[in-house]
Amino acid sequence: MSKKIAILAGDGIGPEVMKQAIKVLQVLEKKFDHSFSFQECLVGGSAIEKFNEPLPAQTLKICQESEAILFGSVGGHRWDNLPKGKDPIWGALLPLRKHFKFFANIRPASMLPMMADSSPLKKEIIKDGFDFTIVRELTGGIYFGEKGGDGENEAFDVMKYQKQEIERIARLAFKMAQNSKGKVTSVDKANVLRTSVLWRKIVERIHKEEFSKIELEHLYIDNASMQILIRPQDFDIILTANMFGDILSDEAAQISGSLGMQSSASLNEKGFGMFEPSGGSAPSIAGKNIANPIAQIGCVVLMLEYCFNFLQEAAVIKKAVLKTLEQYRTADIHSIEYKKIGTEEMGDRIAENILRI
Ligand code: NAD
Ligand code: IPM
Ligand code: MN
Repeated sequence: MSKKIAILAGDGIGPEVMKQAIKVLQVLEKKFDHSFSFQECLVGGSAIEKFNEPLPAQTLKICQESEAILFGSVGGHRWDNLPKGKDPIWGALLPLRKHFKFFANIRPASMLPMMADSSPLKKEIIKDGFDFTIVRELTGGIYFGEKGGDGENEAFDVMKYQKQEIERIARLAFKMAQNSKGKVTSVDKANVLRTSVLWRKIVERIHKEEFSKIELEHLYIDNASMQILIRPQDFDIILTANMFGDILSDEAAQISGSLGMQSSASLNEKGFGMFEPSGGSAPSIAGKNIANPIAQIGCVVLMLEYCFNFLQEAAVIKKAVLKTLEQYRTADIHSIEYKKIGTEEMGDRIAENILRI
């Protein structure tokens, strides 16, 4: 089958890890007789350098005409002080999410026992591994509310949620729990924030009216951030607002082994998606062939599952990644029993294993 994919590698480690994701897609073409057309375009800092704007019209057009967007990462010190909107984050990443109405950001955090040596958690906590998924609201909350103040003496960001925004992300989380372990943990700050009081009220109503068979737990964000460290295996679907999900997902990624291994799917109501690693452009390791490409390769897995329904192909990649990790590790997840390899070599080993499986 033929599929058109927009490739937005971006900045920092983006291009290096994206190269490995494309490598994986190219071996899938051979193995499964698919044809992927890669529409590579500039975004973020790299687009600023060439076109003087972070999200050129041509890039947006290519995204609109593609069947999925594979995103790397954007940002870096060079562009940190540009006026908001002209910079990679406010001028490209957030507008892309808003433009396509990617309201749901799905961030799986799973750890197999074989990755225990890469986790900062104690062995006894993670001896059986864990497997949960953060479902983060992505187009509302404090990220997109009104902003103001003169920026010198005062500044503010309004945190706002509407009923419909909470309902649609809650329904998605409950549906995911139905196909998983049957539990939703809703994370908020309802002891302080009015948006969280509304969040909790709506989540409880949707639960009672539509998903009463699903187990529902509420945790405050501060408590949740420590509970995932002491009982990660107790979670299934963690439903939360935009900023809480952002913070919790870096923590969840690291306890699974590395931020360099967490992928995410940003989806809209039509099922169209942008697939982006949870981590960023990692400027201090960029260009050194040491970044872990597994988060970006995992984005390919999520794209195949969520956008193309290529489940067998996705399963083959997952298997190949695990097989590779039995022998080889990048620097971020390395320990003495394994051979330390670079970004490019990790891509090669995974690609070889895909062909072997
Ligand atoms: P970061 O995620 O880039 O890096 C945090 C830490 O994780 C660093 O120690 C980094 O080396 C490590 N890391 C991240 N990905 C890795 C990988 N694949 N392999 C190995 N180690 C990895 O976060 P930051 O330093 O706060 O931000 C750097 C830049 O990235 C900023 O400009 C930020 O705004 C941007 N950012 C972009 C995105 C995105 O485009 N989706 C996401 C997060 C941050
Ligand atoms: C992420 C990133 C982004 C976010 C930033 C770069 C806007 O941290 O995807 O986790 O906060 O959503
Ligand atoms: Mn983040």
